[in-house]
Amino acid sequence: MSQHDAVEVITDKRDGGALSASQIDWVVDAYTRGDVADEQMSALAMAILLNGMEREEISRWTAAMIASGERMDFSSLSRPTADKHSTGGVGDKITLPLAPLVAACGVAVPQLSGRGLGHTGGTLDKLESIPGWRAALSNDEMMRQLEEVGAVICAAGDGLAPADKKLYALRDVTGTVEAIPLIASSIMSKKIAEGTGTLVLDVKVGTGAFMKDLERARELAETMVALGKDAGVRTTALLTDMSTPLGLTAGNAVEVAESVEVLAGGGPADVVELTVALAREMLAGAGRDGVDPADKLADGSAMDVWKAMIRAQDGDPDAELPTAKESHVVTAPSTGVLTRLDAMAVGMAAWRLGAGRARKEDPVQAGAGVVWHARPGDEVTEGQPLMTLLTDEPERFDRALASLEGGYDVEPAGSAYEPGPILLDRIS
Ligand code: URA
Repeated sequence: MSQHDAVEVITDKRDGGALSASQIDWVVDAYTRGDVADEQMSALAMAILLNGMEREEISRWTAAMIASGERMDFSSLSRPTADKHSTGGVGDKITLPLAPLVAACGVAVPQLSGRGLGHTGGTLDKLESIPGWRAALSNDEMMRQLEEVGAVICAAGDGLAPADKKLYALRDVTGTVEAIPLIASSIMSKKIAEGTGTLVLDVKVGTGAFMKDLERARELAETMVALGKDAGVRTTALLTDMSTPLGLTAGNAVEVAESVEVLAGGGPADVVELTVALAREMLAGAGRDGVDPADKLADGSAMDVWKAMIRAQDGDPDAELPTAKESHVVTAPSTGVLTRLDAMAVGMAAWRLGAGRARKEDPVQAGAGVVWHARPGDEVTEGQPLMTLLTDEPERFDRALASLEGGYDVEPAGSAYEPGPILLDRIS
């Protein structure tokens, strides 16, 4: 007989109590093994969403999720390791230039990534638009690539935090994704189990992010930074703006192309700024802050690592990227200044064009997405192209256009426009 039962754990949390270490260990393990039913875990997740968790509870919950699976160990590598995790945004392709850039500065980057669900894209979906590239690597292949190339972006294996995999899928269909204790423990259990020495969190704030306001984003960031430190991982967080989408593209192949521009020393200023800021954080954590990542973009060494990283996973970095069969241009409705381009509207449009998926098992289109030709603050002339929508299936244009309605403003020339910063705060 177990010392606990599910109803006791659920009612304790429902009534606002703190769960004990042994209740948490038991319920996470029993749920992973199938002894606690989905409907019981849904009730507990909702009680956690409504009543919250204390710091010790979150820390124990995270440890229990880590203990449900394997833990990787990179201590045998000849260089220190650093990883970045973004809470998800629109046009957020930063991992693509960042991993090779940090590797070019002498720090190994083991980036275990996921696929997109909903309006934010997944890093693996983007990379899979490169002909031949494969996401699945064995642990041995990953270690070898980290030693030889310095950077790897691949699918997280089923062995890492299996409790989270099951719980995340349940939260997705029970309205319990938005609980800070559950988001923090979900992200941090995977990142701690992954075994990185340094972790930099990019916590997005704004219409296109999970966290719509700065206060909740700060609370999430502080919770995650504390969890990382408790587990011996050097962890910092940047709070960054996600009310406007990043760069000039949202989709799969279009975001790879933009990332390659950044690696070639060009690319949109906001993508470059955020990539370099995150690289500096990762290098500082790993004890390599004497190297300036901006130099490694300028001298081509980050590009060299990118090509080696893609080739090591059977991709052809020089192959032409797939393009969508159909396109539709949205033009500026009047002459003036583009004062707003909403991240959520653009993310939903890209998703409806086929760049993202509605269900986990759906395929994505490599060429689908949105390219915008002006950023907030730019002057536009009536009738000029504002955005190009891309898809293989033209019947998708109507719904994509509907999600862009009300998603941007063009105001008369001379209207006041104050650009906001990308970097909003830093938590350490
Ligand atoms: N990403 C995760 O991995 N988990 C969450 O709960 C939310 C975002």
